[in-house]
Amino acid sequence: MPDVLVTRRMVDAAMAALDGLGTVEVYTGPPTAMPRAELLTRVAGVRGLLTVLTERIDAELLDAAGPDLRIVANHAVGVDNIDIPECTRRGVLVTNTPDVLTEATADLAWALILACVRRVAEGDRFLRAKTPWIWDPRMMLGHDLHGRVLGIVGCGRIGQATARRALGFGMRVVYHNSRPLPPEVAEPLGATWRSFDDLLAESDVVSVHCPLTPDTRHLFGAEAFARMKSSAVLVNTSRGPVVDELALAQALRAGEIFAAGLDVFEREPEVEAELLDLDSVTLLPHLGSATVGTREAMGLLAVQNLAAGLAGSRPRNLLNP
Ligand code: DGY
Repeated sequence: MPDVLVTRRMVDAAMAALDGLGTVEVYTGPPTAMPRAELLTRVAGVRGLLTVLTERIDAELLDAAGPDLRIVANHAVGVDNIDIPECTRRGVLVTNTPDVLTEATADLAWALILACVRRVAEGDRFLRAKTPWIWDPRMMLGHDLHGRVLGIVGCGRIGQATARRALGFGMRVVYHNSRPLPPEVAEPLGATWRSFDDLLAESDVVSVHCPLTPDTRHLFGAEAFARMKSSAVLVNTSRGPVVDELALAQALRAGEIFAAGLDVFEREPEVEAELLDLDSVTLLPHLGSATVGTREAMGLLAVQNLAAGLAGSRPRNLLNP
């Protein structure tokens, strides 16, 4: 029986850092996630579990693991895959990997913003399809960013880093959080709090950075799209279920919004078929934190948290209250 189960192979430096943590078993079956039945079997008796976002850590899993499980170290900042109250009730520590992926994820949000407003992926597909063309003053027109408004929904670490980049593009920032940011955080960003509805009506680009919770599931549905400008762009690099994909496809088809950029999906890794047919959508396979440096930092931090939990000390990124 292993001491530690790792549900997805990490980058080499992070795998090497597992040395010394006892017997470590690693699931080696990508491109699929570890099948649930296999996870329930292989987790039995482990003391540490290093997970990624596809593994649901709930009462059933904790039952299967048994009383020796001390820590679940998630290799992600998002922890919507983990039932933290249930872990806490059983004395199981939960950690995540915040901060180290903030800048990379904000960069990717901007990659999608630019791709959407200037039709970058559409232009690439157009040429690859060998479509005949000639320079034309009316061809593939997008929208300007300078002088426009960026709306950040969920202005935490990644939302703030995304907002900071807007200053370089000459954009004004509005944001929606349940509570306004302290002035010393909001003022350098030139960011002003708005109600969710006002943000939708005012923004030329809406970038989603809120966590997935019961309150944010399908936050972007038909009603939200109806409030947005017809020239607006929606970008989601948080969690897929925050956006109702069918409603999004309908809004794009009806011209209620101009374009959307999605890095995350409602039924990941599945992509809603209706979106695949639309040229106004740019799709990426959950690449927010996918840089060499960031994935190394995430992996090392996850292992550091795991090691601390196994050693009985307080992990740096402990989430239990
Ligand atoms: C996270 O960390 O939550 C991302 O979605 C994966 O990098």
